[in-house]
Amino acid sequence: MGIPAPRYRPNTPMVTIRSITVSPPLINTACAWASDEPQLAALLDCPHTGAVTTRTVTLGGFTEDASHTVTPTPTFSPYPLNSSHKVAFFKDSLTSINSVRLFPTPLFSYVGPGGWIRTLLNRTPNTSKPFIISITESHPTDLRLMLNAIQGLRATHRRDRASRIAIELNTSCPNIPTSPPASYDPAGPALAALLDVLADAFWADPSLTIGMKLPPYVVSTQIEDVVRTIGAYSRVDPESGVSVNPIAFLTCTNTLGNSLVFADQVEGATGEFALSAGVGGLAGEAMHALALGNVYAFSKMLAESEDSALREIVIIGAGGVTSPEAVARMHRAGAKVVGSATLLGKLGVAAFELLGNAVDSAS
Ligand SMILES: Cc1cc2nc3c(=O)[nH]c(=O)nc-3n(C[C@H](O)[C@H](O)[C@H](O)COP(=O)(O)O)c2cc1C
Repeated sequence: MGIPAPRYRPNTPMVTIRSITVSPPLINTACAWASDEPQLAALLDCPHTGAVTTRTVTLGGFTEDASHTVTPTPTFSPYPLNSSHKVAFFKDSLTSINSVRLFPTPLFSYVGPGGWIRTLLNRTPNTSKPFIISITESHPTDLRLMLNAIQGLRATHRRDRASRIAIELNTSCPNIPTSPPASYDPAGPALAALLDVLADAFWADPSLTIGMKLPPYVVSTQIEDVVRTIGAYSRVDPESGVSVNPIAFLTCTNTLGNSLVFADQVEGATGEFALSAGVGGLAGEAMHALALGNVYAFSKMLAESEDSALREIVIIGAGGVTSPEAVARMHRAGAKVVGSATLLGKLGVAAFELLGNAVDSAS
């Protein structure tokens, strides 16, 4: 079967996801180049991004060992090439490999008093550009505390900025050996326990925009399991008869874990492997077809669902978006919003000007 006609115009200038609007529908996805305040400010100020996604944080943060320290990048110069042997770019392809773990800095740095997102929201009262705060925790109790903290920030800005914060639960980072990503077992109890917490937060405040960052699945039954698992959380409003689901968007996909790249394949690496850790998460052009396949499969399955709430879920397509043509392909596969990380690491925010110019000519 061929790819069906898009349900939207590829160059739609604005996409609404529950209570946020993304305009233009081009964003950075969570990554090491969206960590601290200067990086987030550059993405916020960039006219070619419609939202800013943060790097994934945990409730309390953690201490990184020296071999896993990410060199800070106060400005968007190209990432210091493999200076910490955690990120490397291929020599002859816009492909990256990384063993970066989560942001060691706690959620508090984003949303606490004086937190970077709080500061940036206050600095830009006249824009509706939202932040998508990427979070993760394996323990439901900690996840609940994170949601409470984010809701605290939303409450502070409720009158005019409630629609400027969304939450993306990252259940798909492949780089944490002791904590297998819950989304790789989409019908399992670990993911359900986290979804229970998200659903509670949503039913307490249905204006909360919640999404999930998913891994690149290689088996179609996994995708069916994800849709079935999420679908179990839909509720029909007794008055309107409308079905509602706590999940407003799915970001497809995260990196492809357990990938091995040798030093001579990448820029600036010494030793045997591109990463000191050996294996890591593959991103960029080398995984584009897999990312497109996931976007297409999820879009199709959701569009064909009998549950109108599932048909409303927006797909954010990511994985190998390094050119105008790739943006167009993501839209053709069913993504309403398109995201990029590897190209951001390579070019800085200029990446979005390149991609943003693309949509008209490529569609
Ligand atoms: C260096 C690096 C760090 C990343 N960190 C995160 C992260 O903290 N959370 C997350 O959900 N995804 C993370 N990702 C995955 C990206 O958001 C994205 O899903 C993936 O790289 C595919 O997009 P791309 O091909 O444009 O890079 C990271 C990717 C890279 C390259």
